Amino acid sequence: MGDEADILYVLTRLLKPQQILETGVGAGVSSAYMLQALHINGAGRLTSIDLPDEGGLSGWAIPAELHKHWDLYLGPSSELLEKVLNELTSIDIFLHDSDHSYGNMMYEFMTAWPFIRSGKLFLAHDVGRNDALFDFCKAAGIPWTRVRTYPVLGGIRKNGVQ
Ligand SMILES: C[S@@+](CC[C@H](N)C(=O)[O-])C[C@H]1O[C@@H](n2cnc3c(N)ncnc32)[C@H](O)[C@@H]1O
Repeated sequence: MGDEADILYVLTRLLKPQQILETGVGAGVSSAYMLQALHINGAGRLTSIDLPDEGGLSGWAIPAELHKHWDLYLGPSSELLEKVLNELTSIDIFLHDSDHSYGNMMYEFMTAWPFIRSGKLFLAHDVGRNDALFDFCKAAGIPWTRVRTYPVLGGIRKNGVQ
């Protein structure tokens, strides 16, 4: 995670989101960095979707004092993402870090995009694994630029800089 967690912290501090939605929690390193930024911001919530693991250990690395800013839904994003988005009604940052199969990435991107508020942020880990991000951009008519040969963290600011 390393630099990417730092990037998530900085973006959360700069954008001051009211609502972040992420898929894929694991240990919760990304979650912890974004939650710490929300904590310093003094506002905002992180909602996460993760597969239930054997020990219920999703987010074990998140400090207990940050849990008050966090909501966790357990189950596959294919079952939960649309339902959670409808409950939230809109989001300021979407972060994909769950199943990186082409089909799941396309599903999550197409489902989450309409809920991201104008000027806000779409992020996806491991976008270099397949063409999902580029195919999604083409399908949605989003102009894109490849800034690194093997992009790991992909990002789009919806409707450009406001
Ligand atoms: C790479 S880990 C996430 C790491 C995390 N971002 C961090 O910084 O620690 C991927 C997580 O995605 C979850 N996952 C995999 N497929 C999923 C799916 N279809 N729906 C929701 N979560 C999924 C896995 O259970 C795992 O916890």
